[in-house]
Amino acid sequence: MGSFILYGPVTLRGKVEISGAKNAALPILASIPLIKGITVLHNVPRLEDVHTMIQILRSIGVKVEWKGENTLLIINEGSCTGDVPYELVRKMRASFNILGPLTLSVGKASVAQPGGCAIGLRPVNFHIDGLEKLGFSVSISHGTVHATAPGRVDESEVVVSFPKVSVGATEHIMTTAAGMKGLTLQINNAAQEPEIEDLQNFLNSCGARITGAGTSSLTVEGVEELQGCEYTIMYDRIEAGTYLIAAAATHGEVEVVNACSNHLGALLEVFEHMGVNFTCNENGITVKAGDVYRPVKIEVNPYPGFPTDLQPQILAMLSTVKGVSLVKENVFKSRFGHVPELNRMGALIVVEDSVAVVEGVEELTGAPVEATDLRAAASLLIAALMAKGETIISHIEHIFRGYEKVIEKFRGLGVNIVYEPRDVE
Ligand code: EPZ
Repeated sequence: MGSFILYGPVTLRGKVEISGAKNAALPILASIPLIKGITVLHNVPRLEDVHTMIQILRSIGVKVEWKGENTLLIINEGSCTGDVPYELVRKMRASFNILGPLTLSVGKASVAQPGGCAIGLRPVNFHIDGLEKLGFSVSISHGTVHATAPGRVDESEVVVSFPKVSVGATEHIMTTAAGMKGLTLQINNAAQEPEIEDLQNFLNSCGARITGAGTSSLTVEGVEELQGCEYTIMYDRIEAGTYLIAAAATHGEVEVVNACSNHLGALLEVFEHMGVNFTCNENGITVKAGDVYRPVKIEVNPYPGFPTDLQPQILAMLSTVKGVSLVKENVFKSRFGHVPELNRMGALIVVEDSVAVVEGVEELTGAPVEATDLRAAASLLIAALMAKGETIISHIEHIFRGYEKVIEKFRGLGVNIVYEPRDVE
């Protein structure tokens, strides 16, 4: 397990370019069993999770190869097999979304039931209920989900209303229905994340007929076949938000190129409340940090609310804001693995009933800490930049799942990160 070693405090200065969005690339790749022929995807980030999804596609018979830095050439000749290797699905929950497209393409398929992780139980009941509503028969045995596709669908109308907003379930059911000719699907209480709109745009470029992505009400008219296309994936709003928070937290001056203000409204609203100076233009967002910030109350909610994937990062920033800030986590109730580690660095954060109460301290101090998941790793990296002295972040491999060229990008902003691939004693 590797470690980052860095000394703070550091003031970030310079320019950083945001990569393609992990959480747009993954559902698009999961849809490929339904997309026949040649697909060319641009702006695909080279991340651990993307590599895992590529391995899964290759394991079921799809040809995938990198053409240049961030372009994938994908050839699906329509002869996929229906069994996805357990050890690959176990690595990454988002791979579960291949079940519907693969089952529809092959007739039957089996995919490992995803386990939980550091941020919660992560059940897939909404996915399974949705597939059953589409006419699939689904069974679970020995930790594997087995599905069989319905026969040809006559003209039929199906309504799926999710009891709770779910990004993955919305994407999974929307994608599967897109390839079901004769079916009209209405999804209510759909997730509204921009990545779902990107997925809709990709599928429609392949011949799908989907409307409403980005709102809570989606309509899908299934078609006979989806043909490959050439598509450019959106930029990663969570990566952008992470760098914006790092810049503000270190009172630096950073231009985050390709950051899209339309996708970061909730964060920018928090910045305004806190007194962070920033400007937006067509190239991105520039933070020209203020000196003294105001404490704030944040409600973490599904999009367009404050994103749960930026909650660990903003918590690090709030730890040295004078006064008391509150952050209520309404998506993943137990997503606070980073809190005990931040407290080891001198933060004063108490979590009660999914609310983090942050009492601002004068400064953080460097310490050996451990990353529990992807965004916790980002949170500890920000805290290490703020802290006085040496910080060693172990289990740092989590960060490579979601941040392309993270070492180079932070070094480009003036940070001297040492990466030790083995555990530091
Ligand atoms: C997606 O995960 C993202 N991952 C997560 O980003 C993100 O945190 C999450 O959405 C919320 O925005 C990808 O897009 C690959 P959910 P997902 O289904 O789809 C419950 C990151 O750091 N639920 O929206 O798995 C669930 O337990 C990752 O990039 C059910 O109860 O999240 C949670 O409480 C972390 N049953 C809530 O819904 C289900 O069948 C929202 O989860 C599905 C979900």
